[in-house]
Amino acid sequence: MNNASLKKWLDVVLLIMFFFLTGGMFFPTPLHEVSGCIFILLVIVHNVFNKGFYRGIFKGDYLFRKKLNAVCILLFAVSITALMVSGIAISQTVFPDVDISNDINWRSIHLSAAICSLVALFIHILFHAKRYVKGKVFYVASVIAFVGAVAGIFIMPYLDRWYHQVYVNREKIVQGEQVTFHGKTIAVYFSRVGNTNFSPDVDAVSGASVMKDGDDIIGNTQMLAYMVQNVTGCDIASIHTEKPYPKDYGETTKIAGTERKEGVYPKLINDLPSLAKYDTIILIYPLWWHTLPMAVESVLRENNLEGKTIVPIVTHGGGGTGESIDAIKSSTKAKVSDCLPVYSSDIPASRQTISDFLKRVDEIQTRF
Ligand SMILES: Cc1cc2nc3c(=O)[nH]c(=O)nc-3n(C[C@H](O)[C@H](O)[C@H](O)COP(=O)(O)O)c2cc1C
Repeated sequence: MNNASLKKWLDVVLLIMFFFLTGGMFFPTPLHEVSGCIFILLVIVHNVFNKGFYRGIFKGDYLFRKKLNAVCILLFAVSITALMVSGIAISQTVFPDVDISNDINWRSIHLSAAICSLVALFIHILFHAKRYVKGKVFYVASVIAFVGAVAGIFIMPYLDRWYHQVYVNREKIVQGEQVTFHGKTIAVYFSRVGNTNFSPDVDAVSGASVMKDGDDIIGNTQMLAYMVQNVTGCDIASIHTEKPYPKDYGETTKIAGTERKEGVYPKLINDLPSLAKYDTIILIYPLWWHTLPMAVESVLRENNLEGKTIVPIVTHGGGGTGESIDAIKSSTKAKVSDCLPVYSSDIPASRQTISDFLKRVDEIQTRF
């Protein structure tokens, strides 16, 4: 095969891989990560094949078409780099040990970079596709390509979030490496499960933030708390509101929004053990309206936690830690350690991430 046809085949493979990757949330994470790495390597090869573009960049007249092409390639380069860096930051399989700041919402950067590269790719294809297809076929193929990519980015994650049933084997996913966590420690969590009267036939979709193990319903935060308990062997306790939240996810978001807007702290059932006897509180909560649920804030305000350390672990649907860390800091005098955000769909595979995180926190705590 000569260079020209190799180049064409590479372009076709890259295009197919791009669509496969945009629908990536629907496929197993390791497959998405490995194909992402292959895609990046092939993009580098594509650039080597097309190095003539870089040589000619400052030559000749800069007509509108050439300018637009250059801007589009620049946007493509920036967004592919952002995809790569954010992909490494949220990687669980290929780069599990790479530890880049938790203060940045890498997942949202990954999604935004995917959208930017989609736009850039579309313009790039419009510029160059005539090498491969001409006439009507070109326009039909462009429309199909655009609709396919938009579906990959927006519809697949939506389907995954709202229709993908999450069944787990709790025993199995909670087990793993143990970490010696110094000081007396308790994991305190707040979850919809335990604060909602779910019927046993509730759908186990991550959008509704529940998982199922046989007939058992487990909340996202609750599962993280079980993992934390298995990692550290610490005590565990759940925050319960007197009045349960509605079974309907949308209704719960409305009530939680009103509580936040009007500054209403829901009445809690007084069943938490005294936090006074603990050195460290691993606080596990869902992000609600970009911040702490009012019930969690209420616990922080009602207990004097001066001299203790809070280790925040937050589960979210794309918002990262939001403003919740600032909310913790302004609600308590406790020291607040590094935090760990966990995307809701990643929870079943997050056991190792949690032990790595807690090992790091313990090392920092014992050093100072
Ligand atoms: C009332 C409510 C508000 C939420 N607000 C946000 C939000 O602002 N940002 C976000 O990323 N996820 C948000 N979510 C999604 C939850 O943080 C996520 O599904 C979490 O994993 C739920 O944990 P749980 O099952 O233990 O309750 C919200 C969920 C609910 C129920």
